[in-house]
Amino acid sequence: MAPVRTTGAIVAAASIVVLSFFLCNLKSKSSSSKRTKLFVSSKRKSRHGLVGAIGNTPLIRINSLSDATGCEILGKCEFLNPGGSVKDRVAVKIIEEALESGKLAPGGVVTEGSAGSTAISLATVAPAYGCKCHVVIPDDVAIEKSQIIEALGATVERVRPVSITHRDHYVNIARRRASEANELVSKHRNSEEIDGKKPEQINGYHSDGEKKSSFMSMNCKGGFFADQFENLANFRAHYEGTGPEIWEQTGGSLDAFVAAAGTGGTVAGVSKFLQEKNPNIKCFLIDPPGSGLFNKVTRGVMYTKEEAEGRRLKNPFDTITEGIGVNRITQNFMMAKLDGAFQGTDREAVEMSRFLLKNDGLFLGSSSAMNCVGAVRLAQSIGPGHTIVTILCDNGMRHLSKFYSAEYLSQFDLTPKASGLEFMGIKKADH
Ligand SMILES: Cc1ncc(COP(=O)(O)O)c(C=O)c1O
Repeated sequence: MAPVRTTGAIVAAASIVVLSFFLCNLKSKSSSSKRTKLFVSSKRKSRHGLVGAIGNTPLIRINSLSDATGCEILGKCEFLNPGGSVKDRVAVKIIEEALESGKLAPGGVVTEGSAGSTAISLATVAPAYGCKCHVVIPDDVAIEKSQIIEALGATVERVRPVSITHRDHYVNIARRRASEANELVSKHRNSEEIDGKKPEQINGYHSDGEKKSSFMSMNCKGGFFADQFENLANFRAHYEGTGPEIWEQTGGSLDAFVAAAGTGGTVAGVSKFLQEKNPNIKCFLIDPPGSGLFNKVTRGVMYTKEEAEGRRLKNPFDTITEGIGVNRITQNFMMAKLDGAFQGTDREAVEMSRFLLKNDGLFLGSSSAMNCVGAVRLAQSIGPGHTIVTILCDNGMRHLSKFYSAEYLSQFDLTPKASGLEFMGIKKADH
């Protein structure tokens, strides 16, 4: 009997151990799920088509930066949108508003001058609305971006980068292409209306557009210039989408927001929404080299007379970060509610990207890396114990030939060399 009693005691003891381990585990799991629950966006079983899959991106704690700064640094994973960036939201809003207002006809072509992400998003989303997409892009932008746009079925013009005041700036060419598409449609309509003949039968008729761009065919339904810089649909995409999501995902408990600006749509839409919800939430800009926005926010002047965009003979090489920094005030940026601004360097952005890759497994594009530089700078400025949100705009895959190319970086003496966050003034022992 003794062995049986011993066995029984062993079984009972083992059961207690197993049970208490199970209970402990359950307890720790439930407390951690309580913490993460705050940041989990509402789960929907299925979403409606590609467009339904845009937005409601996760908000994640960036562990390395949070631990190093003592602030909760949260990144909105916009790179998880189907088109790979924050611009998917903008593309949807621009197309939907244009279709609703009748400025874009069903089957028409959306044109845009874009350094990449917006173009990729428009090309991704346009077919879902039965529309086409034509993109004008500066020829110094990473080649993989125009390859993606073409693979998505859009037409692409790569043009020499010139000042925005030049008629052949990529944005101005894109605007022109939309007008040309509309002219073609009205010529077509008029010629049909006048004598019932097809335009190609009319003596001397030749479309200029046809020579320039293959998207302008006889069945062209007209064009619409997306105009992401000045079209406030961009701002509204973030005011109605990104901002409310951040508010919901943090349960309204955040202290500050920081992001860089290209068109200014993100920083404007999010800052305006958050400050209307709670005026104590502080919103900041992080500005890359060569951009005039830091001066505008901190000193009220954009640039010296010599630096004004119209006075530049050509676009100078200012920053290797793509999609952010600008030397004019856009309609979208004007909607921003900012409490201050920081400047970031290209070296900081490069080092930050490698640090996040090594420590968090986050493979981010250059603007996201700059946003994280901004988040750390903001944490250093307001001190530990605060919750800071930033945007992770796109991932590194679109940046292989530049931002993630050792050869490219070495040309500018930007080869990463940091082992920790010392490039942000944070010593190893601090993290
Ligand atoms: C990759 C990337 N990140 C950030 C931005 C800046 O966002 P916004 O235009 O909303 O200021 C852009 C803009 O084109 C971008 O392409």
